[in-house]
Amino acid sequence: MHISDETIKAIQNSEKVVFLTGAGISAESGVPTFRGEEGLWRNFRAEELATPIAFQRNPKLVWEWYDWRRNLIKPLYPNAGHKVIASVEQKKSSFKLITQNVDGLHQKAGSVKCVELHGNIWKTRCTEEGNVADNLGSPLKNIPPMCECGAILRPNIVWFGESLPVEAIQSSYETVEICDLMIVVGTSAVVQPAASLPRIAKNAGAFVIEVNAEETPISDMVDDSYLGKAGEILPLLEKYF
Ligand code: OAD
Repeated sequence: MHISDETIKAIQNSEKVVFLTGAGISAESGVPTFRGEEGLWRNFRAEELATPIAFQRNPKLVWEWYDWRRNLIKPLYPNAGHKVIASVEQKKSSFKLITQNVDGLHQKAGSVKCVELHGNIWKTRCTEEGNVADNLGSPLKNIPPMCECGAILRPNIVWFGESLPVEAIQSSYETVEICDLMIVVGTSAVVQPAASLPRIAKNAGAFVIEVNAEETPISDMVDDSYLGKAGEILPLLEKYF
């Protein structure tokens, strides 16, 4: 894989670095992505299960899907892509990782300055009282899990049709507006508002690099697009930081 001179220069000169990641960064760890053939579960699409209406209609079904995903993720490890991002964080004083992933693998790799736009699969929220708690049970003993107050717990995840946590999206906008390098990894760039962050960075003058297994709606907009596996391409970029 040839890394362009422009990319090398942008990395070498970068001071304020932002990574935006999606399901593709965890694919090589074994986490299924949402879209594409492997994104289906019992013939349901994520968009049919990850909604407040689906949960209202059938909390057991939705929790069965999350329980299946939690069981699948639990034994998995961060891959080379996650590790590069964690190591770039160590090298840069101005750094932020914005992830759409809920699997917690970035943190397992050592990332600290990480904004989780869509929540975390290892946390639950009481549907009555709203309190968030760690929940690492896998498999879950009871589905749906219940709060001590008697109400149903929900995954602490942002579903389709719901707003993102205000602080998370606000700090993401602020960071991309002032960054000078943004690297977008493994996202189909179709789910808003995350999908608009690369363009905001670009319009504000940042050099934007995309790393993805295939072309996406933002491929034509970015400064450089590298097609291939994140776990192979990110280590090639790392040495220029
Ligand atoms: P998608 O499943 O939509 O897209 C995954 C992207 O990763 C695709 O563009 C693939 O080409 C790419 N990809 C796959 N394997 C890769 C690899 N080894 N290296 C690099 N790229 C690879 O996932 P997201 O864009 O993250 O929301 O989806 C966005 C949101 O939609 C998710 O956060 C989730 C989902 O519904 C919620 O849960 C709220």
